[in-house]
Amino acid sequence: MNTKTINIANKNVVITGANSGIGFQVALQLASQGANIIMACRSLDKAKRAQHELLAKVPGANISILTVDVSEPESIAAFAQHFEKQVGSLDILINNAGIVTPNLSHNSAGYELHLATNYLGTFALTGLLLPFFTKDEHTRIVNVGSVAHRFDKFDFDDMGWQKGKFIYWKAYARSKVAIAAFTLELHRRLQKHGSNTLSVGAHPGLAATDIGQKTGVTTVKTRFGQWTQDKIVAWIVAQPAEGAMSIVHAAVGEGVAGGSYFGPNGWFEIKGRPAEARLNPQARGTEFGKQLWSVSESMTGVSYLSSIDSEQDKSSCIAIN
Ligand SMILES: NC(=O)c1ccc[n+]([C@@H]2O[C@H](COP(=O)([O-])OP(=O)(O)OC[C@H]3O[C@@H](n4cnc5c(N)ncnc54)[C@H](OP(=O)(O)O)[C@@H]3O)[C@@H](O)[C@H]2O)c1
Repeated sequence: MNTKTINIANKNVVITGANSGIGFQVALQLASQGANIIMACRSLDKAKRAQHELLAKVPGANISILTVDVSEPESIAAFAQHFEKQVGSLDILINNAGIVTPNLSHNSAGYELHLATNYLGTFALTGLLLPFFTKDEHTRIVNVGSVAHRFDKFDFDDMGWQKGKFIYWKAYARSKVAIAAFTLELHRRLQKHGSNTLSVGAHPGLAATDIGQKTGVTTVKTRFGQWTQDKIVAWIVAQPAEGAMSIVHAAVGEGVAGGSYFGPNGWFEIKGRPAEARLNPQARGTEFGKQLWSVSESMTGVSYLSSIDSEQDKSSCIAIN
């Protein structure tokens, strides 16, 4: 794997969920390479604390904050407006924000929260920010996936869990099937529209972040919690900085191709150096990708690059580079 990186000095990089875990480490590594980091976070207080920490580690770095709750459509629309006014141009978008929660919960539009946060928010945010990408040859959209996506299947007939019993890890896995399929479908559509922007996926393996503790999934009260507390497992799991490496590679690795998907190269893709990672076959399906795209447009009300199937539609497509 080529370990050289593209030059990102003074390039604008938006990272969702940059205040913690993997997102924080990605922000740190890209700020160290001279990028202007726009932290897209839901809590201003947490973002300010993280910004302070980043500036202590990379003095003089250009790190700003724009708040967004990626599970909420109105917040995403407001973010895009603020971005246009306050920043205006974009080189790299890293869709990293994500949750795991044991309870069946919903956003204000009534969509199940894993789906709304981990996938639909990414779909909508990407569409609304697409017009701001520069014409630079190195623009990229990086979507953060998970190994978990290989262990379930997305179900268009039960996205709200009205039929099947809600199982949180399946809801998480399905949201990550969606983001993997979205990454590939976005790649196909960007290519078809002659865009320079690359759509790339990456997952961090298994990293010791706070993602489970925030909602009680990884406390000792649950079986999964007991498992993660186990000393041997703790030894196997990566630290956040190591988990961030695949995402950083997807964002700035030289020679990265659109439609690629990276993860750690170690046992079971848990940790290691960035390498091509395994995808759920469902996520690779082009018919599945098309269907997901059209369902996502209806669910979010954000339409873009929709003319892939019909030459006639081209005039209604939004302008991109
Ligand atoms: N850690 C792992 O082993 C692992 C494995 C596979 C995939 N991943 C993926 O890696 C990504 C980062 O997770 P992490 O492990 O670094 O967890 P984390 O430390 O909890 O970071 C998640 C980030 O997403 C933010 N976020 C959550 N919901 C949001 C919302 N509605 N709007 C805006 N921001 C929101 C969080 O903000 P708050 O701080 O305000 O909650 C936090 O900044 C996620 O997509 C996750 O699925 C992680």
